[in-house]
Amino acid sequence: MMDAEFRSKKPRLENGTSTSGNHPGYLQPEKDTEGSTSLVFSTHEEVGALAKALRIFEEYGVNLIHIESRPSKKDQEGYEFFVNCDNTKGGLKQAIDTLRAKTEDLQVLSRNAKRTDSLCETVPWFPHKIADLDRFANRILGYGADLDADHPGFTDPVYRARRKQFADIAFNYKHGEKIPNPEYSEEEVKTWGTIFRELTKLYPTHACREFNHIFPLLIENCGYTEDHIPHLQDVSDFLKDCTGFTLRPVAGLLSSRDFLAGLAFRVFHSTQYIRHSSRPMYTPEPDVCHELLGHVPLFADPAFAQFSQEIGLASLGAPDEYIERLATCYWFTVEFGLCRQGKELKAYGAGLLSSFGELQYCLSDKPEKRAFDPPKTGLQKYPITEYQPIYYTAESFTSAQAKMRSFAETIPRPFSVRYNAYTQSVEVIDNTEQILSLSRTIKGDMAILEDALTKLKKEHTTHVLGAP
Ligand SMILES: [Fe+2]
Repeated sequence: MMDAEFRSKKPRLENGTSTSGNHPGYLQPEKDTEGSTSLVFSTHEEVGALAKALRIFEEYGVNLIHIESRPSKKDQEGYEFFVNCDNTKGGLKQAIDTLRAKTEDLQVLSRNAKRTDSLCETVPWFPHKIADLDRFANRILGYGADLDADHPGFTDPVYRARRKQFADIAFNYKHGEKIPNPEYSEEEVKTWGTIFRELTKLYPTHACREFNHIFPLLIENCGYTEDHIPHLQDVSDFLKDCTGFTLRPVAGLLSSRDFLAGLAFRVFHSTQYIRHSSRPMYTPEPDVCHELLGHVPLFADPAFAQFSQEIGLASLGAPDEYIERLATCYWFTVEFGLCRQGKELKAYGAGLLSSFGELQYCLSDKPEKRAFDPPKTGLQKYPITEYQPIYYTAESFTSAQAKMRSFAETIPRPFSVRYNAYTQSVEVIDNTEQILSLSRTIKGDMAILEDALTKLKKEHTTHVLGAP
């Protein structure tokens, strides 16, 4: 089997550039004015909507350089507005916050700082809160029901109808809803059973320690057996309890930028359909077997979950060429990673743990093994239709995470990001107030750490000296 999580031979969607998002079609002025920010938003109101919006900019002392409007394509009653404003004077942030509360779908398309580093000039849009993932869930590179002519299910009308059913579930899904559970047919369960039986024979010897620790818990808690395909919602609930990761159904392939953004929120976009029954050991795309057997177990491991989120956070607002490098690092770790455990190499990548053939091949002497090193690994070319000629090995998930963090620091972004698990949102740290708030949080955590260490030390002293 080969894996194509978010790789596609199809052209990538243009994403995060001046005409991105839910409002395609606006053209930026030839070149953004230095010190300007471009926004797009829509309103339901027919009369006076623009005047109201303009008053907000006036209120906060923000000058507008360029304005365009047009009837909304989504809402027949409403309008869409594109504005390019001067970000060097006035309270643009407050104006945007106010505007966001009063209009629909506000997106910051670009922000040009007054600086010479051209890579920093434009910050592509990225989700700030977990519900923002709804915005691109349907921005897929291929619809789930569209199959290539060489797909094993291409000529099977029943299979194609089933694929459409799954695609529709994902298409209509919104954050916070329960994932619908389309009961799997006898034929589908049989396909799952064949794969489950073969792979579980290899796991004890080929999979990493963490995977083998978690797999029995999935059998106990989520109904992982050869005669039952676990429900995405049950699995998502289990992951949420372990590491805060959740699953979200997806109708097709997402762009690298969108897929990685999900990881920043500990959300994994998962397919729900199963491969065609005629070839149970092959699939030209990720399916529910790949997700549930390959990916899910390690998302329940805290260090692996942290590592995965680190890649996601690094991707937010990153320039396109860095998205490509991060996606390549994802490929050589989360999809095809090996790790050193004692004197042995073990598999932890989902593409390996869901492929009977490649799981054996990757640990043989045939492929080349190199140490995981994000600046170099991120530039490595790789095939998507055959076994990998090169695998990258990590010493541990913690060390891989530290390397990813160092690499992330080299990404030209004019801000830092931090995930706030309480609000399930990404905080952009680019002003002193936020840095102060962060330092207060760290102080609080340090106090807990000191308290715990003091108590442990006392306990140790009591133990050594003997309790009275
Ligand atoms: Fe995958």
